[in-house]
Amino acid sequence: MNILAISGSLRQRSINTGLLRSAESLLPEGTVFTVADLRTIPFFDADLETTGIPESVLLLKQQIMEADGVLIASPEYNFSYTGVLKNAIDWASRGPVRPFLDKPVAVIGASPGNFGTVRAQTDLRRLMHGLGAHVLPKPELLVNQAASKFDFFSLMRTPSRCIELSSIIS
Ligand SMILES: Cc1cc2nc3c(=O)[nH]c(=O)nc-3n(C[C@H](O)[C@H](O)[C@H](O)COP(=O)(O)O)c2cc1C
Repeated sequence: MNILAISGSLRQRSINTGLLRSAESLLPEGTVFTVADLRTIPFFDADLETTGIPESVLLLKQQIMEADGVLIASPEYNFSYTGVLKNAIDWASRGPVRPFLDKPVAVIGASPGNFGTVRAQTDLRRLMHGLGAHVLPKPELLVNQAASKFDFFSLMRTPSRCIELSSIIS
């Protein structure tokens, strides 16, 4: 099993990247788990497409294509998912190869506020449907008030939430 994880946050101590790392710690042995690097992906620019697709974009598309499933955790920024994530998905959606088509995708998220990224997840699920992905409808994982649920290493330490996370990745 090969899982590609994508975080919508570039922040070093991101709780959403932490959520993905928590998922990794719950996976059965032998599962390949890769966190995509969105930091190296430039702003989408149609001119860049014609002069040469950036290596970082080609790598991301390859990683999505090779994955058995994609796990996306994004912060909520202004009631939606982040621009960094949208930019990467826009790049991945271009060209003759559509890597998200028929791809199993799970959407999760954590926020320090009360709503646990529900609005970001709703938008992201709609986007993924548009790309033809098979978005896991249930269970939903909305980790709210996350400051108290992650340890120093940004790993989630709430047993009930870890059970939900296990169920999503299995
Ligand atoms: C530009 C911006 C907009 C934000 N908007 C929201 C929001 O709409 N809802 C929310 O719950 N949190 C919002 N936040 C707070 C983020 O949830 C919080 O910074 C979170 O820790 C970011 O996730 P990360 O730790 O994975 O980087 C916003 C933060 C930023 C920087």
